[in-house]
Amino acid sequence: MRQHYIAGNWKMNKTKGEAVELARGLVAALKGGKNKYMIAPPFTALDAVSQVVRGSNIRLGAQNMSTDESGAHTGEVSALMLKDLGVQTVILGHSERRHIYKEDDAAVNKKVRLALKHGFEVILCVGELLAEREAGKAEAVCEAQTRKGLEGVAEAELKNVVIAYEPVWAIGTGKTATPEDAEAIHKFTRGIVASLYGKQAADSIIIQYGGSMKAENAAALLAQNDIDGGLIGGAALKADTFVPICSA
Ligand code: 13P
Repeated sequence: MRQHYIAGNWKMNKTKGEAVELARGLVAALKGGKNKYMIAPPFTALDAVSQVVRGSNIRLGAQNMSTDESGAHTGEVSALMLKDLGVQTVILGHSERRHIYKEDDAAVNKKVRLALKHGFEVILCVGELLAEREAGKAEAVCEAQTRKGLEGVAEAELKNVVIAYEPVWAIGTGKTATPEDAEAIHKFTRGIVASLYGKQAADSIIIQYGGSMKAENAAALLAQNDIDGGLIGGAALKADTFVPICSA
């Protein structure tokens, strides 16, 4: 039985003070919780939130990471800088990075391999655009992003990889994939992992769902066999809306 893993991606929200306040509330509310939890504040709040979650059952995540280890990369943040702040998990290949900032599969893969080399847990995001779903290409897009994202990742490293299926049309739109539609892609993606790493690895990998997940739909999504958690955006910005998902 895979443990449910509920993660909050705060995106470009929260000043340092606001982030600390939310993190404090979550540490108190999730104490003793039976699932696995992570929060990913913006870079500017990582140091402060790191002090708050230290010693708690909430992992500290970053929303992105540079493809390179150091040097002339203005505006980028390296693996070592994140490690230095106590970051344990990095979200990579988020659709907002892919579509707004034009990150391609090769860049995502470079980041995945670098993050794993530095001992981070990686949440590799995959998901199709609305036009791709309507054209019947949802599976093909997720397959390509999964295969390319994991290229060169050794079987032994896979225990530090989580996949998040985030249909782009469901992110921040209030439209959620039905539990059945999401389950179909999750099952399909687990099959891809099985074809790459074998059944045992596929059975253990955590596949989160993301896209307008909230307290009202979380239980039905998480009841699906292959949906092992959530990567939450909007509803992760308040303890009142995030905590009920964590205990769904
Ligand atoms: P929303 O929950 O706001 O749809 O965002 C999902 C997401 O992109 C999490 O990474």
